[in-house]
Amino acid sequence: MGPKILVTGGAGFIGSHTVVALAEAGYEPVILDDFSNSESSVLTGLRSILGKDIPCYARDCNDYALLRSIFREHQISGIIHFAAFKAVGESMQEPLAYYRNNLGSLITLMDAMLAEGISNLIFSSSCTVYGNPDQPPVTEETPVKPAASVYGNTKQIGEEIIRDVCAAKPLKAISLRYFNPIGAHPSAEIGELPRGIPNNLVPFITQTAAGLRKSLTIFGNDYPTPDGTCIRDYIHVMDLAEAHVSALRYAMAHADVHLYDTFNLGSGQGNSVLELVQQFEQVSGSPLPYQIGPRREGDVVAVWADVQKSSNLLGWKTRRTLKEALADAWRWQQKLAGS
Ligand code: WQD
Repeated sequence: MGPKILVTGGAGFIGSHTVVALAEAGYEPVILDDFSNSESSVLTGLRSILGKDIPCYARDCNDYALLRSIFREHQISGIIHFAAFKAVGESMQEPLAYYRNNLGSLITLMDAMLAEGISNLIFSSSCTVYGNPDQPPVTEETPVKPAASVYGNTKQIGEEIIRDVCAAKPLKAISLRYFNPIGAHPSAEIGELPRGIPNNLVPFITQTAAGLRKSLTIFGNDYPTPDGTCIRDYIHVMDLAEAHVSALRYAMAHADVHLYDTFNLGSGQGNSVLELVQQFEQVSGSPLPYQIGPRREGDVVAVWADVQKSSNLLGWKTRRTLKEALADAWRWQQKLAGS
């Protein structure tokens, strides 16, 4: 039996793929997810992939007594904390709900960890902390800009809270700054399950290709980029999942009980919206209907990662191509259409 790892939000998009990566690396994941933004069908998909049931608590992680009982019952060695509200637009309408949930849960979690002597924490952060960088690629030393959304601010403040706790208490923590996670497990047993109209580009593309959406609207093609559309660093969700295992291994092996560090998790390359559409059309074999619309408020013009630090210290870098990610996303969408 490998080390037991609690994965909060483990039924979500990145969380469920990380559960697979953990199990395949010899860890024993335990899921805590209130299913407020995930489906119980994910547990079935995980059983299909892993050939076993993953223990799951369908509860709110902002519950100190529950956390301590789970830590004791399972002899938890580390926590990967995904559970958070993450809709950028919604966060501007409901700031108190976002600060209470995202930061309250984090504080409760660390309180319970310290009470039980658990010292390994991996925190789900975001490239949104960089805002609109002056000169991509961004390194972990690139200045953090004032957050463009309440959601982004909860990630920035979350990183600062963890940093301060690690300085004062025996806690080793790593903040992972995700770029743009896309794709799905190649088995098409788990993948992205956006609720309602997708905010993000790739699920909107796959739903359009599946005929669920009439056409894609590209939010602006008059940006100062080569083809006028915004540039992002798209990373296969399984590469992202495997990075969490590398980060956990790094933290658990670290001698200094006051470790705190941040790592960029991206492919290291930038691709424009139009480039994604063109690559997707090669994957699906059909033209994708789209039109150019107005810019989306708050969009960053261009951001992609310098991933040298993750490679040097975590021994991790992406292994899958953009086209593989788009093919896996498309296979997942077709599986959903058939279900
Ligand atoms: C990508 C590009 C859009 C939809 C998201 C999260 C952020 C962070 C990173 C977690 C942009 C364009 C999109 C559409 C479009 N995740 N687009 N038409 O905004 O980079 O950030 O992932 O922390 O919180 O919001 O990703 O996929 O929404 O947009 O033209 O219908 O695609 O303008 O240029 P984004 P996205």
